Amino acid sequence: MGFESVPSLPLEGLETVDAARRPVPASPGTTTTPGAADRAALRTDSARANGAATASPAPPDLKVVPLPVRRAEPGRDTPAAGRSSIIVLLQQVQEQHGYLPRPEVVRCAGEAGISVAQAYGVASFYNFFKLTPPGQHTIRICQGTACHVQGAQGLLERVQSELGIQPGETTPDGLFSLETVACLGACSMSPAVVIDGEVFGRVTSRQVPRILARYRRRK
Ligand code: FES
Repeated sequence: MGFESVPSLPLEGLETVDAARRPVPASPGTTTTPGAADRAALRTDSARANGAATASPAPPDLKVVPLPVRRAEPGRDTPAAGRSSIIVLLQQVQEQHGYLPRPEVVRCAGEAGISVAQAYGVASFYNFFKLTPPGQHTIRICQGTACHVQGAQGLLERVQSELGIQPGETTPDGLFSLETVACLGACSMSPAVVIDGEVFGRVTSRQVPRILARYRRRK
């Protein structure tokens, strides 16, 4: 697994409360803020005196109130809230299926209250989400600094050429999936490759066909 920068998401569960719109308590003895009320009245009077069509409202007293996270409701929530909840829904689907089948993406989009295109936009933005079924064997090639200086790029190109796929893709026979990662935690064995959890260290491009053949035999 690698680490990626995640774009800032819209803040969810935050609501602005305009104190100017809150009903003023009517009970006797309730105190108000005379200074603020007087200033607002003065502004209104001043605007009227200047011939303005409408008076400027007093500056709102904004307060941020945290709300509990919940799923978006179609037709009610904002697109931003839907985009946040779609990530959680898609994660659940991928845990169950290993990738995101289209019918499930459509269902999640409906639950999140966003369009299918928006759901696919989120799914394709994050490398974590797989839109195609994973291959029988998953090859992860490290592209971290230690591996890079030891020739990881040439190794990756050799695997790409042997399999005819790019990182993030699966071979047409469904046998291999190819991924790149930032560091496998085996820097002392760089360049490193992991296939189905099995670690190969100090791998050279010449060894690639032999390693792949080993997994082809395990079909
Ligand atoms: S950089 Fe490749 S294993 Fe750490």
